[in-house]
Amino acid sequence: MTDDLSALQAETDAALAACADLRAWDAVRVGVLGRNGKLTALLRDLGKTPPEQRRDRGAALNRLKEALTAAIEARRGALEAAALDARLAAERLDPSLPPRPRAAGLIHPISRTMEEMAAIFGAMGFEIAEGPDVETDWHNFSALNIPAHHPARDDQDTFYLTAPPGSPPPVLRTHTSPVQIRAMLGRGVPLRVIVPGRTYRADHDATHSPMFHQCEGLVLDRAITLGHLKGCLIDFLRAFFAVPDLPVRFRASYFPFTEPSMEVDIGWDRKSGELGKGADWLEILGSGMVHPRVLANVGIDPREWQGFAFGMGVERVTMLKHGIPDLRPFYESDIRWLRHYGFNPLAPTMLHEGA
Ligand code: DAH
Repeated sequence: MTDDLSALQAETDAALAACADLRAWDAVRVGVLGRNGKLTALLRDLGKTPPEQRRDRGAALNRLKEALTAAIEARRGALEAAALDARLAAERLDPSLPPRPRAAGLIHPISRTMEEMAAIFGAMGFEIAEGPDVETDWHNFSALNIPAHHPARDDQDTFYLTAPPGSPPPVLRTHTSPVQIRAMLGRGVPLRVIVPGRTYRADHDATHSPMFHQCEGLVLDRAITLGHLKGCLIDFLRAFFAVPDLPVRFRASYFPFTEPSMEVDIGWDRKSGELGKGADWLEILGSGMVHPRVLANVGIDPREWQGFAFGMGVERVTMLKHGIPDLRPFYESDIRWLRHYGFNPLAPTMLHEGA
């Protein structure tokens, strides 16, 4: 190899050894093999070599090119491996670090209860149905067998909106039951839905809020009986309150949209508030077999289809389950209350045995 070629080889080897990262390496590569690189210039000048030396010089240049290309590539491999090692070292998990602070947001107990209801009834094959908060008089009352003169309307005084003259004013729905009507009309039979949602009544005291939440249920099929109603609600209540032998009592009652109708009570100890213990009963929800007139109102033949419905207050069961004494803070957005009663958004919804 002539002196200038040996010099280029030595110079390139030294430059490669000196480069600390891929950027420096690339500068070396371009300086040698690039369009204006040193080796490229030597190759270009080959034509100026006297003809008798050209052959040897050409062969020597080609060998040098191969050697330099190989050296440059080898250096790239080494630098890449070193970069990866450095990254792995920097990203190594340190299990001795303190945990990150808890996520700032928590799930409101109302939402948590509705998620649990969806999980438990979902496991029993129920779908979720929804309806509007602003409801027609027909859906909220008449179709549910509560005609205009009916005293049940007095128990459910609500907020009325203005309507065109001659038609009954729309209402803020007083219960989730109107979604029974919407589900039957929209989905048809057979049907198995729950309806968690907001409801409204003109009430305001320590145990009543003008806005609150209910969860409705409706099951319709060809041969649904009172036995299904009882089994379904007993399973739900035991799963929801996580008391596997929770006593459940069905008590005859009256609702315009069910026949027969039943109030459902659970056993508890009034003094300690403990569920499933003691000798006291606590009313927890309303239920019954869907009234044939309600089915007829939406064009379903009550001789062919029958089923049960139920409705419960979401706040009420939430207060009982978690020992929350007062209804009002549910809506006050007091950060201390929310921190105390809120749920970790990552905690899985418990699906208890029995569901
Ligand atoms: N809608 C009733 C209320 O708000 C609760 C209820 C009772 C719903 C019996 C039902 C039922 O579906 O069958 O007081």
